[in-house]
Amino acid sequence: MSERTPSRVLVLHGPNLNLLGEREPEIYGTATLDDHIATVVGEAERWGMEIATHQSNHEGDLVDQIHQARGRCDGIIINPGAFTHYAWSLHDALAAFEGPIIELHLSNPDAREPWRRTSVIAPVANGSIVGFGGHGYVLAVQAMAELLRCDG
Ligand code: DQA
Repeated sequence: MSERTPSRVLVLHGPNLNLLGEREPEIYGTATLDDHIATVVGEAERWGMEIATHQSNHEGDLVDQIHQARGRCDGIIINPGAFTHYAWSLHDALAAFEGPIIELHLSNPDAREPWRRTSVIAPVANGSIVGFGGHGYVLAVQAMAELLRCDG
């Protein structure tokens, strides 16, 4: 009987998300980035998925991470922070990634300031999960498991 190789998923976070827990808790909640990563890893275990994570406040660093994921990771879950709304370099890097991509936001950007209503990431994502706070991480892993056809 052959064992299936676990799917490997990269979870990326953009600028200011290292401050989760302290930053505008009335919008983003009190959970820290480490708390959310623990949620992702816990849910991923159920699906036999391996998780790699990276947070950066620098656009080029995230571009490099996406390039390095090519051929190494099966899917990407990304909360690009404010880069969502204007970072075309992330759009282009993700467009060159062959696997499924899920865009994730804790808040619902469509229900906030008008400038948050544009996402340059959405056109290259399989789907977006927004507005569910920390539970969005569970939903994102489940959606990725479905896209990668992981066994639960
Ligand atoms: C965010 C929404 C963005 O508009 C904002 O710039 C963030 C966080 C979210 O998770 O709700 O930094 O991506």
